[in-house]
Amino acid sequence: MTQEEMFKEIRRLAEERDALLLAHNYQRDEIQAVADITGDSLALSLEAARTERKVIVFCGVHFMAESAAILAPEKIVLLPRPDAGCPMADMVTVEGLREMKARLPGRPVVTYVNSSAVVKAESDICCTSANAVKVVNSLDADEVILVPDRNLGRYIAANTDKKCHFWEGYCPTHDRLAVEEVKQALAEHPDALFMAHPECTPEILALAHHICSTTGMYGFAKSNPAKKFIVGTEAGILYRLRLENPDKEFILPSRRLICPNMKLTALEDVLKSLQTLSPRVTVPDEVREKARVALERMLAIPR
Ligand code: 13P
Ligand code: SF4
Repeated sequence: MTQEEMFKEIRRLAEERDALLLAHNYQRDEIQAVADITGDSLALSLEAARTERKVIVFCGVHFMAESAAILAPEKIVLLPRPDAGCPMADMVTVEGLREMKARLPGRPVVTYVNSSAVVKAESDICCTSANAVKVVNSLDADEVILVPDRNLGRYIAANTDKKCHFWEGYCPTHDRLAVEEVKQALAEHPDALFMAHPECTPEILALAHHICSTTGMYGFAKSNPAKKFIVGTEAGILYRLRLENPDKEFILPSRRLICPNMKLTALEDVLKSLQTLSPRVTVPDEVREKARVALERMLAIPR
């Protein structure tokens, strides 16, 4: 099958199955192109909850499909590549988190959505890179536990008066971006603005003109009159940045800004998933109920 034939067959089957195709901003270009909706992990989960369609095909990683299954339990949630996980989400276990809570009693646990359903179920409230500071400031507590990303945690700590205790997890893709790589890109493009995701290290964030989530980057690039941007996040974001801003230039400071898990999903996998209505992601009721409370507390806070 050619790519064009595959596109047509995916779209035909999506219609036949009453399926909504969601793609994260880090997915391969062709997956973003064939999807109904692209977005960040939270926005996609909200779309999953909102849609009238019966089937959700989640082109992303496992925790995202789980969030969709938590918020939309009556729908069939498919993850075309069941092996697409997130190393950062895997860095925290329920047992480890329980130990941390026992060591630091009374501190609310704020968990980044990039985490498993069982860890969310063990938390008081979730956050995303777009609302993390707001979520933490909304809490009636002087100290908080932040899980699992130490970089997002340090970014929050720099922007709140609360005392923050971090879990020492990190996103390998963002964490490996080196200060030297960014400095070199800035030296080569002195007229460019550097926008960085809070999953980058504090040393990288110190060099940024703007720190924001992936969705924040689309808004910043569109509204800012600058013509050149250095982009401190995963390479997949370039697809829509370039599509929406044909007159602007977007530069990746490193060739290593690629998340291998995000790149696993291919058109063949999406097609097969629609043909077989598998692999399906479900969350057991007792976990789902608790995790939903943590997610819904976050959703109650304005973005
Ligand atoms: P967002 O989807 O919240 O922008 O997160 C970035 C990320 O690393 C997702 O895996
Ligand atoms: Fe996980 Fe980082 Fe990949 Fe996102 S980019 S899925 S946080 S490893």
